[in-house]
Amino acid sequence: MLDAASNRPELPAEIARRRTFAIISHPDAGKTTLTEKFLLYGGAIQMAGQVRAKGEARRTRSDYMQMEKDRGISVSASAMSFDYQKFRFNLVDTPGHSDFSEDTYRTLTAVDAAIMVIDGAKGVESQTRKLFEVCRLRDLPILTFCNKMDRESRDTFEIIDEIQENLAIDVTPASWPIGVGRDFLGCYDMLNDRLELMDRADRNKVAESIRLEGLDDPRLDENIPAHLLEQLREEVEMARELLPKLDPQAVLEGHMTPIWFGSAINSFGVKELMDGIGSYAPEPQPARAEPRQIAPEETKVTGFVFKVQANMDPKHRDRVAFVRLASGHFNRGMKLTHVRTKKPMTVSAPVLFLASDRELAEEAWAGDIIGIPNHGQLRIGDTLTEGEALKVTGIPSFAPELLQNCRAGDPMKAKHLEKALFQFAEEGAAKVFKPAFGSGFIVGVVGALQFEVLGSRIEMEYGLPVRFEPSQFTSARWVHGDKLPVEKFTNANKQHIAHDHDGDTVYLTRLQWDIDRVERDYPDVTLSATKEML
Ligand code: G4P
Repeated sequence: MLDAASNRPELPAEIARRRTFAIISHPDAGKTTLTEKFLLYGGAIQMAGQVRAKGEARRTRSDYMQMEKDRGISVSASAMSFDYQKFRFNLVDTPGHSDFSEDTYRTLTAVDAAIMVIDGAKGVESQTRKLFEVCRLRDLPILTFCNKMDRESRDTFEIIDEIQENLAIDVTPASWPIGVGRDFLGCYDMLNDRLELMDRADRNKVAESIRLEGLDDPRLDENIPAHLLEQLREEVEMARELLPKLDPQAVLEGHMTPIWFGSAINSFGVKELMDGIGSYAPEPQPARAEPRQIAPEETKVTGFVFKVQANMDPKHRDRVAFVRLASGHFNRGMKLTHVRTKKPMTVSAPVLFLASDRELAEEAWAGDIIGIPNHGQLRIGDTLTEGEALKVTGIPSFAPELLQNCRAGDPMKAKHLEKALFQFAEEGAAKVFKPAFGSGFIVGVVGALQFEVLGSRIEMEYGLPVRFEPSQFTSARWVHGDKLPVEKFTNANKQHIAHDHDGDTVYLTRLQWDIDRVERDYPDVTLSATKEML
């Protein structure tokens, strides 16, 4: 049967109930707090605060986060699954720091929607804008949560205008705030004609919800002071006249975002947002692949690796590959084909990231994220299938924007350093280039902070002190072309040539001029700023 709205076959119920999404925000807007509340209402944790809690006896998700805190920054894109009403939510965490935009980009290839959290006083901030642009590249549907309404915040129309103008997307209010700052009482739920009142006394309590019959309902007079009620009526009337109506199809296409107002710390507006995710975020979507796209309802299992986290436990050199299932119904112990190497792989210990703990995944469906522990076979961009030679596309590797030479503190340890660096390269934490001439390595990153994180990880996880030193090069381009012209080019430019961890040839550049020169002098050679992960 075809689904009228999407013109696609109806999905099996287990797949149709899945919502896989990420939260994008500027640091401090309230992503962690909102995540906690999601988990709280998803029944995954008993008490808010557990996501950050320390010192728990069991190996919980918070230990995992603690490790990241010890590293000083959240560098991993971890996943959490929990049920909410009839839905299964898969929340994929994106690193908040702009230095990890490449990682974030890849994470966003694994989700079907994004929740954009903004601070009601600050509006659209730089990091939100960057992440939003990434979502737009993929036409991801976006739902917006305007947080911290319990504090002094901007005028509601101003916030909506700012989003519309800054991000060039239609905004439609799903709720409308009543009062600001200390006078903030709650919201009028514009989609369901309800009054939601915030409870300031108990931060974990769900708001009291009063069913209304329109804005003239006398129950409003009983609960809202006259001056605020008058303002609410005026503003909602204006909003209905001036702002676009909710169009679910436009939301799915990424042209419109519904906005909810709330206060994550007071648990206010969170349930409405979760209901909104259920109603307006899409079910699992087809994955782009070669030679054909993969539909979630296909009975055969396929999945792709969008993230590799190495050394989660430094004592065992384990690695977990985060796999988004693109189709089918996966069962533990299944034998899948690792398409890149054409080798079979029995997935006997997959991990499902249930919010409060890591558990063995007995089964999983298209849309889910599973973790597959491995010894390095699985790399970012790899596809797993039940035999068919499919390759999920659109998971790029970006040219680094900053390059430095990297040397081991102890020259005798150069081989160890190579191993450590290549491992991080496979994890996607940095680009590592071995120059054709000379010794040492050139490490490339997108943001300067990555050098620091990398240095401390190499020291912590491999016991190797390293030095980063300035390099004459500023960027790198992957070299493509037929064998002969490429050989001619590399032979004549040896000082600029290096190889990445896959053995692919790169041209190290100092200035744009270098690139222009190659384009002029070697028309048969192409330099590219991204490479599809192989
Ligand atoms: P992030 O993950 O996006 O960086 O933000 P996070 O949730 O850590 O929240 C940043 C700060 O904003 C925290 O305060 C948090 O308590 C506060 N916050 C989150 N939601 C709300 C809200 O609805 N209203 C108000 N008033 N504050 C909110 P902090 O002082 O940095 O940390 P903490 O000591 O409270 O944990």
